[in-house]
Amino acid sequence: MSDNKPIFQPNREFAKEARVKNMCEYHALQNEAMEDYEGFWSRYAKEKLDWIEPFTTTLDESNAPFYRWFDGGKLNVSVQCIDRHLSSRKNKAAIIFEGDRGDKQIITYLELYYQVNKFANLLKENFGVQKGDRVVIYMPMIPEAAYAMLACARIGAIHSIVFGGFSAEALKDRIEDAKAKVVITADGAYRKAKPYMLKDVVDKALESGSTVVEKVLIVERNNEEIAWVAGRDYSYNELIKDKSPICQPEPMDSEDPLFLLYTSGSTGKPKGVQHNSAGYILWAQMTMEWVFDVKENDTYWCTADIGWITGHTYIVYGPLAMGATTIMFEGVITFPDAGRPWKMVEEYKINQFYTAPTAIRVLHKTGENEPKKYDISSLKVLGTVGEPIDPPAWKWYYEEVGGSRCAIVDTYWQTETGGHVVSPLPGATPIKPACATMPLPGIIAEILDENGQKVPAGEKGLMCITRPWPSMIRGVWGDDERFKKSYFGDVKKEGQAVYFTGDGAIYDEDGYITITGRTDDVINVSGHRMGTAEVEAAIKKHTKVAEVAVVGKPHEIKGEGIFAYIVMKGEDSFAQEVELIKEINNIIKDEIGNIALCDDIVFVPGLPKTRSGKIMRRILRAIAKNEPITQDTSTLEDPSVVEKIESIVKSCMI
Ligand code: WT7
Repeated sequence: MSDNKPIFQPNREFAKEARVKNMCEYHALQNEAMEDYEGFWSRYAKEKLDWIEPFTTTLDESNAPFYRWFDGGKLNVSVQCIDRHLSSRKNKAAIIFEGDRGDKQIITYLELYYQVNKFANLLKENFGVQKGDRVVIYMPMIPEAAYAMLACARIGAIHSIVFGGFSAEALKDRIEDAKAKVVITADGAYRKAKPYMLKDVVDKALESGSTVVEKVLIVERNNEEIAWVAGRDYSYNELIKDKSPICQPEPMDSEDPLFLLYTSGSTGKPKGVQHNSAGYILWAQMTMEWVFDVKENDTYWCTADIGWITGHTYIVYGPLAMGATTIMFEGVITFPDAGRPWKMVEEYKINQFYTAPTAIRVLHKTGENEPKKYDISSLKVLGTVGEPIDPPAWKWYYEEVGGSRCAIVDTYWQTETGGHVVSPLPGATPIKPACATMPLPGIIAEILDENGQKVPAGEKGLMCITRPWPSMIRGVWGDDERFKKSYFGDVKKEGQAVYFTGDGAIYDEDGYITITGRTDDVINVSGHRMGTAEVEAAIKKHTKVAEVAVVGKPHEIKGEGIFAYIVMKGEDSFAQEVELIKEINNIIKDEIGNIALCDDIVFVPGLPKTRSGKIMRRILRAIAKNEPITQDTSTLEDPSVVEKIESIVKSCMI
């Protein structure tokens, strides 16, 4: 093979029982989709989903790119995830919760049904939440967060989860954009055996009065002292007591919205990615079955947070839709030590484990020999997601965690794709380290050049999906133009605008796809998307900052770190710089949250700009990486600024 990557065949014993057993079966499925695209999807939608009313149209492309799937159909996502399992799985564990301090709770499907119904009744009766209302969920990783999501789905409210690490300002922006009338939060949670607080962040987000939030619901978790605003704040634990455990599910149209999830783009303002009901839940379920191949008695664990799309699709919706047992973990995987995940694998006999490269790197670096200390032989499938995984981390994961026996599924997807789009199938696809391999059956993913032509093997191109698929993003909340421009503005194939992911990718000689990373001004920090413009907008709030440019720089653990070049107003001494860095980081904490803190901040006399004023980020990226500058600098407004920046950065790095 030309790229010299070793290839690993699927485990034969595993393949015998797998849903897709070999590449012939994979190709047969992919061909079925190619030959009769709508027939393929209609078959699965009928087979997999519990419809209240059957759909009449499979795909409506008449108002592209506002595609519609399964029109005419009615269903309820909470029924798909809960009610339909009650006849055969009522006593099966739906969610196994492990708290930060090792406390445990097992929630059966029947218990989940009652909890979700009560929660749904609370939202309706106490808060008047109706179909189509937006509910913001700002919660730790506790079972009530999943109940809240499913309760919204049951009554047709649209949830918008905001990751608990976001600041008050970031939370406020998201609440405002969605015009949410209810916020669900907790009195706190535990992290590394210490309480951490969420409610005060909500209070701060709402204090300016600029939102339309009427009610805040607070779930008790750690009983820390919190402030209560009379008439606005209510205790979940009090209100839930007298609620009926039965709540009729709202019949939802296939294209009624299920949730919003804000994600970073290349402008300063995050966008509310909208997912709708039928298409999303169908693909969440199908990918759970195909990619993780979870069996009836398996226990599945995804370490993500519900604040990200991975937590939505692969902790809550996907596993529950297929009737699996899903682990929900409140804590930090390296606490109390880097053996924690393997201890949990041993204890719960976990069969599928899904995490991010950044976590694999930390576990590898800080606990290389930890897997050996536990019996982790129950593992069958190991997953990774969020960023390209580097070969050393892959090798350790494959050999030490997977015992060279487990399939590694390097799943490539995004908030916008709803579920996996390019990934190996564990019983079928021969895998190569750090390679997402092939599009899943039904997904027409192609690497194209700017003219919409397929790129030859070995050449970098743009990762596109050239036909609409059921779980694709349906819109950017309140901004149709941005939706079209962000995803359908760059690449046309045969005259038709196609979905561009924003990622670069490359085919190898075998037609395998390797993702090379973002091609836009988005940085991938620990598998999370961070828009450079967002970080820049925060830094610019400092009154002494004249100009700023932010770029990504490779980081040992995080994948990419954030590197900021700042031009100050007026002269400053070194002593002031130290103070300034602190102030700037505090602003970032307030505006976005700790996840956006800069790894490097350097003060420079100017930024490299073209005569028309465009910042040449490529030059700044090269300097941050300590790489030679290959670009012609003579067209810059002031070419000498490049040398000055280089020497400043070099002196900072010593
Ligand atoms: C971006 C999406 C998808 C859930 C987590 C992040 C990168 C994702 C892979 C992978 C290489 C990957 C892409 C993508 N990405 N999975 N297996 N290999 N890169 O969701 O915040 O929407 O970020 O993560 O750059 O566009 P997200």
